[in-house]
Amino acid sequence: MYHAAIAGTGRAVPPTILTNAELEKIVDTSDEWIRTRTGIRERRKAGEGDVLSDYAVEASRQALEAGGLVPKDLDTILVATVTPDQPIPAMACLIQNKLGAKKAAAWDHNAGCSGWLYGLHVADALIQAGKAHNVLLIGAEFLTRLADYTDRATCILFGDGAGATLLKATRSDHGVLATTIRTDGAGASFICMPGAGSVYPPNRPETYEQRLGFIKMMGGETFKVAVRSMTDVCKQVLDESGFAASDVTWLLPHQANDRIITAVGDRLGIPSERCIVNIERYGNTSSATIPIALDEYVREGKIKKGDLILFTAFGAGLTWGAGLVRW
Ligand code: ACO
Repeated sequence: MYHAAIAGTGRAVPPTILTNAELEKIVDTSDEWIRTRTGIRERRKAGEGDVLSDYAVEASRQALEAGGLVPKDLDTILVATVTPDQPIPAMACLIQNKLGAKKAAAWDHNAGCSGWLYGLHVADALIQAGKAHNVLLIGAEFLTRLADYTDRATCILFGDGAGATLLKATRSDHGVLATTIRTDGAGASFICMPGAGSVYPPNRPETYEQRLGFIKMMGGETFKVAVRSMTDVCKQVLDESGFAASDVTWLLPHQANDRIITAVGDRLGIPSERCIVNIERYGNTSSATIPIALDEYVREGKIKKGDLILFTAFGAGLTWGAGLVRW
């Protein structure tokens, strides 16, 4: 039977850097607080006229080239995003057109910061079922466009960027070994943006007046559930595939807070030198954190053939999941 293997990666981030020192001039915060509480030193910020799908296309071209395919080889494009160019149509359709991937079915999904991992689960299932062969999985966000720069507890966290991953069908012993995804809608208010949907449409005065079109987060509560949930699903995929944490070459978690990453690593018994962390340079780019970090480590030659990579993510929903991949 076929399953999915990661055949190529790519990334594109805006050139403009927003440092902690610059944020000190916007909200009542300090570089010291942000660094010690989150691990973030700087993040990327899209320019005024920038369009997210253009960044996604650039990352996709790199992933296709690395994987030796051209756009017309794609049968599926999955885009994980909470910040599409526009609500309708799906950004995946805009990307399909810009790439010229005429044969690909394309759609978006919103699983918050777990979006890339949800996409990995779906892509692997489609490939196993014989419904797809060459899948482009994109995580792309312009989160600074939804960050409330009057709320110091959230605006310091978010950054912009896009990562792409090319998944090909394989019968070999590398590729996706196990995935699991979970949801708990009872925690919907932990991380949310109440406005700009059908309850508070963008054209209603209260959406603007009550600042409902910005991300709100209950940080402390989210922190605790995130650590517990990601640890649980990591253990599950390891158990299911007959591996121990000591077999894992790299833990690649969603980059929301370096204290969360350390806590998950500690609970699993994976030391920090085997945890992939780049939050200090990009902040939280939601569904884009994992594919961006993966591409960095692949292109720097740190990830090698045969490595066992444990992915995990947690985000708005609440959603979370884990995946184990043999490189
Ligand atoms: N600068 C200075 N002080 C601040 C700032 C800031 N930027 N933000 C908050 N504070 C203050 C608070 O007002 C509070 O002050 P008080 O004690 O006088 O009331 C104090 O710092 C502590 O605030 P906490 O919210 O308890 O800080 P915490 O240590 O929990 O860190 C953070 C906050 C960074 C948000 C953390 O809770 C976190 O990372 N949570 C999880 C985020 C996450 O995983 N999100 C999921 C993905 S996001 C998505 O899906 C889009």
